Amino acid sequence: MAVSVVVAASRQNGHTVALVNSLVTSLPATVINLSEKQLSYFDYEHGNKQDDFLPMISELLGSDVIVFATPVYWYAMSAQLKVFIDRLTDLLTIEKEMGRALRGKRFAVVATGSDSELPACFTEQFQRIGDYLGMQMLPPLYCQCQDRFDESEHRDTISSYADLISQQ
Ligand SMILES: Cc1cc2nc3c(=O)[nH]c(=O)nc-3n(C[C@H](O)[C@H](O)[C@H](O)COP(=O)(O)O)c2cc1C
Repeated sequence: MAVSVVVAASRQNGHTVALVNSLVTSLPATVINLSEKQLSYFDYEHGNKQDDFLPMISELLGSDVIVFATPVYWYAMSAQLKVFIDRLTDLLTIEKEMGRALRGKRFAVVATGSDSELPACFTEQFQRIGDYLGMQMLPPLYCQCQDRFDESEHRDTISSYADLISQQ
C-alpha cells in the first residue's frame, strides 16, 4: 500500500515535522514537503501551470492514502496547505482527468496545536473538501504540543494511527 505525506508547516524543526518523522518510522511513506516546492496561489488564468503543483498531483495519484500534515493555525490549516488545497481547483477546471482520478482515494489529516482538542471547524473543513472531491477522509490525528513535541507522549497514538492507515 502506497502512502504519501504532504507536509505543510512553517518551520522544519517544529512540532508538525516531528510528528511526521515519528509517523513514518511506523509507516513507510513518501514525504512531500511543501517548503521545498514551488507552489503559487490559485490563478484564474492558470499562468502558474508550470510550477510544482501538477507533478505533485501526479505523484500523489500513485498513493492509496494521502496524509496532510499541518499545524493548527487560527483554528484552521496552515497557509501553505490552504494554497495547495486552493490549487485543487485546477483539477476541476483544466486538469479534470487528474481530478477524476482523485475520486475514491482516501486521505488523512495529522495536526499539532497547543489547545487540548482539535477544533470541530478544523476537521469539518477537510470533511467538506473530501466530500466535494469524492475523497474519503479518515479520522484525524491530533497531537497537543505545548513547548515541544514530546515523542514519548504521543508514540502509542501515532503507532495506532499508522496501523489504521496501513489497514486501508
Ligand atoms: C499563527 C499561529 C496560529 C496558531 N493558532 C492555533 C490555534 O488556533 N489552535 C491551536 O491549538 N494552536 C495554535 N497555534 C499553535 C500551533 O498550532 C502549535 O504550536 C503547533 O504545534 C506548531 O507546529 P509547528 O511547530 O509545526 O509550526 C498557533 C500558532 C501560530 C504560530
